[in-house]
Amino acid sequence: MSRVISLAVIPGDGIGPEVVTEGLKVLDTVTDGGDVAFEKTTFSLGATRYLETGDTLTDDDLAAVSRHDAILLGAVGGTPGDPRLAGANIERGLLLKLRFSLDHYVNLRPSVLHPGVSSPLADPGSIDFVVVREGTEGPYVGNGGSIRQGTQHEVANEVSVNTAYGVERVVRHAFGVASARPRKHLTLVHKTNVLVFAGGIWKRVVDEVAAEFPEVTVDYLHVDAATIFLVTNPARFDVIVTDNLFGDILTDLAAAISGGIGLAASGNINPDGRFPSMFEPVHGSAPDIAGKGIADPTAAILSVALLLDHLGLTDAAARVQAAVAADIAERGEATRSTSEIGTAISDRIRAH
Ligand code: NAI
Ligand code: MG
Repeated sequence: MSRVISLAVIPGDGIGPEVVTEGLKVLDTVTDGGDVAFEKTTFSLGATRYLETGDTLTDDDLAAVSRHDAILLGAVGGTPGDPRLAGANIERGLLLKLRFSLDHYVNLRPSVLHPGVSSPLADPGSIDFVVVREGTEGPYVGNGGSIRQGTQHEVANEVSVNTAYGVERVVRHAFGVASARPRKHLTLVHKTNVLVFAGGIWKRVVDEVAAEFPEVTVDYLHVDAATIFLVTNPARFDVIVTDNLFGDILTDLAAAISGGIGLAASGNINPDGRFPSMFEPVHGSAPDIAGKGIADPTAAILSVALLLDHLGLTDAAARVQAAVAADIAERGEATRSTSEIGTAISDRIRAH
């Protein structure tokens, strides 16, 4: 065994544990007999844990998770509106806390319309792009507040934070991603005509960094126009770089046009390697179907492929992707359980 990778596993709530089980099944298959071993530690975090102990993410949890080489997360969160979870704030107190504390400044979300998948678009063309969403700044940092709440004079602010350091590092990363892809095309999405200060720094940084990547062609779209083109001509996109808020919204649209939430994978990446990167399906805990064994584990399995790729295990990542693509192509109308899909993909990997 030449390399041991420590993996923190956060199955989470609802369908999270169901899809993570299949992700790990595939991970075990693709690494079986190789010279890399994953040493897994499971962390009980999320709504279930909160209801049992009242803790969301303690300092000890965070320290323990940080000591790993990478993180695989299912989904966290209970049934929306559950009064017992009113004080939990799982989104900010757990997910965003992990992303901010572990400096996940790149949120990577690929969108591929696989052969065999039907898109809600009548004429989607070929969809194969990746959104590089900034993960630690923008309007999501909690820089705001409100006064006179609940009165006619309430004032509420939520300030978008964009630092030269933060914008430059994510833009540089996005150029690197574009440079490594066949089309080498990068689109900055913002709203520079109205958000002149935040948009101004993004535009200037992209222009500056572009000079270092002459092989990458650069394009700019306002976010509203980007939503039009994602529907009318998604094939025009290769790499999109954008801020935290726009990226959140665009990637849901991107998932919707490329086969839905059951297929959308993501990586929360700390490219410096100072902290473990975290890989997770884009979807949530889906309380409406939890426990029924019918969740699609494909997004979690594709997240495992992103994890392998990030760790430099590109061969294993490609094998997982190929097995998923083959499985999707032959899916048809038959309904299979969560574990049947995971097993089918594992079997394909083993057979190749
Ligand atoms: P959701 O993504 O959990 O579910 C939306 C719809 O998609 C539901 O109808 C669900 O059944 C379906 N769906 C989701 N994943 C699926 C899969 N793998 N296979 C088949 N169908 C799937 O979003 P929702 O309902 O808004 O949130 C539910 C809970 O999840 C909330 O507590 C929310 O805060 C949390 N959440 C957590 C996220 C995370 O952990 N990163 C992300 C989004 C939501
Ligand atoms: Mg979202």
